[in-house]
Amino acid sequence: MKRVSKKNQRWKDHYSERARQEQYPARSVYKLKEAQKKFRLIKKGDRVLDLGCSPGSWMLYVAELIGKQGRILGIDRKAVTHKMPPQAATLTADVLTIDRAWIEKQELLNHFDVVLSDMAPATTGNKMLDATRSFQLCQAALNVAEMALKPGGSFICKIFQGEEFKEFSESIRIRFRNHRIFKPRSSRKESKEIFIVGMGCKGQYTNI
Ligand SMILES: C[S@@+](CC[C@H](N)C(=O)[O-])C[C@H]1O[C@@H](n2cnc3c(N)ncnc32)[C@H](O)[C@@H]1O
Repeated sequence: MKRVSKKNQRWKDHYSERARQEQYPARSVYKLKEAQKKFRLIKKGDRVLDLGCSPGSWMLYVAELIGKQGRILGIDRKAVTHKMPPQAATLTADVLTIDRAWIEKQELLNHFDVVLSDMAPATTGNKMLDATRSFQLCQAALNVAEMALKPGGSFICKIFQGEEFKEFSESIRIRFRNHRIFKPRSSRKESKEIFIVGMGCKGQYTNI
């Protein structure tokens, strides 16, 4: 079993405790807060799609940013049980199975200013396998983002760095006017997770 250093334990306690005090169901909210501070992608009145949204801390934070006129839709294969504000709605679905027909049926096409993905596979301890599964989730998220984003919209996606990281980063580079790689301070130093941010979606592509 991997030993957790005292420093990392303090880190874990700090962010978990802060989330508890600020009434967010997960400490992952601080990663999005850092991304928002840096890139300012989510604005008042925006429509935001959050993939892998459970237990719902990103949704609560996004709801604060977009205000009552905005809309946030969260999708996760696990149901969200935390109470959400009126501008938030959730769907229980596996993002790997979402296709154009499903999106059209949900009337989601081309409506979102920002698509977020904090999806993560259940980790196995095998870093290569975990990274490959993370890459598959990222590809599914990008596929959905391309169908659901307005031209000019933005995409923030978590990926576990591995062999496929360059390929995914290149997919973002060609589909968005600008892209950035971002490692939040609130993410564990030894964690392989990193965020790719695409800004200014160029339009819709069909070949992923
Ligand atoms: C780190 S958690 C997200 C935390 C969330 N951002 C928050 O702040 O509350 C990752 C989520 O990804 C979801 N997930 C993983 N694979 C998925 C898939 N194929 N479809 C939908 N959700 C998935 C998991 O169920 C889990 O809830």
